[in-house]
Amino acid sequence: MKVSLVAAVSVDGRIAKSEGQTSTDWTSAEDKKFFVEKTKEAGVLVMGRKTYETIGRPLPDRLNVIMTRDAANHESIEGTLEFTKASPTAILEDLEIRGFKEVIIAGGAGVYSLFLKEGLVTDLYLTVEPLLFGSGVPLIDGIASFELELVDIKKLGEQSVLIHYLIVNS
Ligand SMILES: NC(=O)c1ccc[n+]([C@@H]2O[C@H](COP(=O)([O-])OP(=O)(O)OC[C@H]3O[C@@H](n4cnc5c(N)ncnc54)[C@H](OP(=O)(O)O)[C@@H]3O)[C@@H](O)[C@H]2O)c1
Repeated sequence: MKVSLVAAVSVDGRIAKSEGQTSTDWTSAEDKKFFVEKTKEAGVLVMGRKTYETIGRPLPDRLNVIMTRDAANHESIEGTLEFTKASPTAILEDLEIRGFKEVIIAGGAGVYSLFLKEGLVTDLYLTVEPLLFGSGVPLIDGIASFELELVDIKKLGEQSVLIHYLIVNS
């Protein structure tokens, strides 16, 4: 199964200026378009509860799987929104059984790091936006090192770059 980490990053590797900031505050229109297309194509995205709260609603026409240790206290919407405290491996196994061929790992840093640490991510799609944040939420935290292989680079609009890497090993 393809497991794609999709993120927009500042040039200094941050995914937000602060934990509560939503990505759509600062990402380009071209990245937003890429994110919508990519997640709709996969049909499913997995994100952390904190990221979900910055968005405030399920993204339409895709299954939104939200990781939280408090899954029992959140209400699901069939086919659109699910809350789970299952492990990353169990989440992916369940989605594979349900017929998904690609799963988008949509952040934030906690969830990206979790899937990477468990060696489950196969691909990275990073949109580098022309900003330096200086501080803020890092893309990932506390993982071992990984070797990546460059697959493709694409200019998105005038200012942004989309980079696709494969994870080679850990
Ligand atoms: N630029 C981008 O592309 C991008 C993408 C996504 C997010 N972001 C930004 O990232 C920031 C949020 O990132 P974050 O790292 O603070 O939080 P996060 O990863 O979105 O969410 C963390 C939460 O996920 C749940 N969780 C984590 N590990 C779990 C596990 N093993 N089992 C069950 N639940 C688990 C916990 O929820 P509970 O506390 O409910 O248990 C935890 O508090 C926001 O500012 C957001 O805008 C940026």
